[in-house]
Amino acid sequence: MFKINDNYLKLPGSYLFSTIAKKVAAFEKANPDKKIIRLGIGDVTLPLAPAVITALHTAVDEMGGKNSFKGYAPDQGYEFLRRAIIDNDFKTRGVELDLDEVFVSDGSKSDAANIGDIFSVDNKIGVCDPVYPVYVDSNAMSGRAGSYVAETERWDNLIYMPCKEENGFAPEFPQEVPDIIYLCFPNNPTGSTIKKDQLQEWVDFANKNKSVIIYDAAYEAYISEADVPHSIYECEGAKTCAIEMRSFSKNAGFTGTRLAYTIVPKDLLCGGVSVNGLWARRHGTKFNGAPYIIQKAGEAVYSEEGKKQTAEQVAYYMKNAKLIREGLAEAGYSVSGGINAPYIWLKTPNNMTSWEFFDHLLEKANVVGTPGSGFGPNGEGYFRLTAFGSYENTVAALDRIKKL
Ligand code: MLT
Repeated sequence: MFKINDNYLKLPGSYLFSTIAKKVAAFEKANPDKKIIRLGIGDVTLPLAPAVITALHTAVDEMGGKNSFKGYAPDQGYEFLRRAIIDNDFKTRGVELDLDEVFVSDGSKSDAANIGDIFSVDNKIGVCDPVYPVYVDSNAMSGRAGSYVAETERWDNLIYMPCKEENGFAPEFPQEVPDIIYLCFPNNPTGSTIKKDQLQEWVDFANKNKSVIIYDAAYEAYISEADVPHSIYECEGAKTCAIEMRSFSKNAGFTGTRLAYTIVPKDLLCGGVSVNGLWARRHGTKFNGAPYIIQKAGEAVYSEEGKKQTAEQVAYYMKNAKLIREGLAEAGYSVSGGINAPYIWLKTPNNMTSWEFFDHLLEKANVVGTPGSGFGPNGEGYFRLTAFGSYENTVAALDRIKKL
């Protein structure tokens, strides 16, 4: 008889954003007259930039030409895109990378989940709490998280690194040293970030303990403060201990078009084995390349017009972030985030649990947010709002929340 991967049976409930979508759909069905404003999932709302659309059109036409048609893309991505990534995202920050250290993919969510393939199931994982659920769930699926303990809402084989208000929602070094450490800065969900000297301490910690850091920098474009690092490779020694993930979703609106990349430095070795080589092997076997037209669209993000237009989009969302942050603070909420990230993290009022506040906001203000507890036990009593709505909807949502 065939056997399933029974680690899947240990997963509690459905994926956070699927649970929320179901709840909202049920409310909508019962209340068809209510105009719901969605500030829950971190999905963009602005259309793709004109430079990106032009590149897409041109690439689509190429696909219709006998001599310009493209079949399978190179495993790691077209050189034109990898070159643009290295020159624009890294060289400008003093980081040198080789072409074969860049792996173009169809999304950071899948990269973050798939990277575990190349690591032994025996590795001990360290995650922030609260945390982007993909890191935890994907490790649970592969059997690294142990068992889920409902009373504590924790997996018994994970190392949780609490991110609390008193440390600016940054993790502290755990007592038990993890083999694999997931860090995401600017942070999803808290919107917090850490300075370069703090990130350097994590790099030193990882090198000293022979751990690897999986660094998710999907929100890098939202950094506004000068002393916040854009890439982990700005830190000395990071190439021997860190893998970095970047996405085109949040900086250029590719949530529906799908494009991302992962950097695996060739200096990252495990007992003499090249991690880059393993990821290349995995990528070549299980992935057939991001579509040509989407990679051309990605290249256009780095053109002069593309850079200007996508920077304007980021500025648009950050105007929303400021509005939410300042508006809620004025209304007496305790808020953080929203300065280097498109997420605002607020304390629920009147000691409500995160899910109580979710229901309250949905029913009374018809506004959807994300319950902090969905990101981990230390998210209980918190709530996340995104700045990715339209300006008009953000103003209206804020107005409704203030009236509660
Ligand atoms: C979120 O809301 O946390 C984001 O949608 C996460 C993601 O990009 O998958």
